[in-house]
Amino acid sequence: KELTLISAPFSGGQGRDGVDEGPRHLLEMGLVNEIEELGWKTHFDGHLDFPIPAEDADIGKMKRPRYVSNSNKIVYEAVSKAVKNDTFPLTIGGDHSIAIGTVAGVQSVYPNAGVLWIDAHADINTPESTDSGNLHGCPVSFLVGLAKAQPGQEDVFGWVNDCLSFDRLAYIALRDLDVFEKKIIKEKNIIAYTMHHVDKYGIAKVVEMALNRLDPDGDRPIHLSFDVDAIDPIYAPSTGTPVRGGLTWREASYLCEAVAETGNLVAMDIVECNPHLGETEIAVKDTIAVGITLAKCALGDVLL
Ligand code: ARG
Ligand code: MN
Ligand code: MN
Ligand code: MN
Repeated sequence: KELTLISAPFSGGQGRDGVDEGPRHLLEMGLVNEIEELGWKTHFDGHLDFPIPAEDADIGKMKRPRYVSNSNKIVYEAVSKAVKNDTFPLTIGGDHSIAIGTVAGVQSVYPNAGVLWIDAHADINTPESTDSGNLHGCPVSFLVGLAKAQPGQEDVFGWVNDCLSFDRLAYIALRDLDVFEKKIIKEKNIIAYTMHHVDKYGIAKVVEMALNRLDPDGDRPIHLSFDVDAIDPIYAPSTGTPVRGGLTWREASYLCEAVAETGNLVAMDIVECNPHLGETEIAVKDTIAVGITLAKCALGDVLL
């Protein structure tokens, strides 16, 4: 069991400072030690460095497109290298735009891997449908090939390709979707469980149903991309786009434990911890602590 910890202190996919400090706080609170206690030999080469481009004008509604694209190429290289070296890439963000690189990186080695996207949001806006222009709301659209450069526009994300098919994507914990996102989820029949489904069936059944549909034969590698705003702000308040009515601490932990139990988990992202947001120091600590807990649960920590 070997793991590569990839630190992606990136905040260019949205407008709030501090999410780039998530990784430092996770490390300071003992992430590496907790992972190693579970028996994982952990490689960590330091935080990735993301140079800010000299010129980075908006492209259509997209904010900081070159910064996001270039940084994701760096994430992509780190993740694909980790997977090729037979290690488990645990990528800590940073905002969720970095999943362009993590998912593309995993797909480059496991082109049949399924992605479990745990989030209050679907992050499937296209550069045309986005209201905010924040690219952390768009990563999925690049991965599934919905985002296409318009005629005459610089194609900065052309390298991403459409590495992910709609049937290899599943959402859990959705509760704040834009009109376009609802439409595309229905149109493409994307596997999607909202908080309504969690209420109705319970988290155990929802995870079981999602995995059965994502991986009907039980043989797909699974990539878990976990946005901490999937969790209720009572437990994870320090995040850029909190939405009430989310997963409890245990529901989120259970989900990670159940995915670990399949034995098919090959990569994980933990994103959107922003230590600058939060009413109190305790709020920040709680959010970082839940991030560490998610990692432990997904990496095989068992209660007994
Ligand atoms: N749907 C909104 C947008 O496109 C919010 C996205 C929030 N994404 C996130 N990774 N927290 O701007
Ligand atoms: Mn997200
Ligand atoms: Mn989100
Ligand atoms: Mn700080």
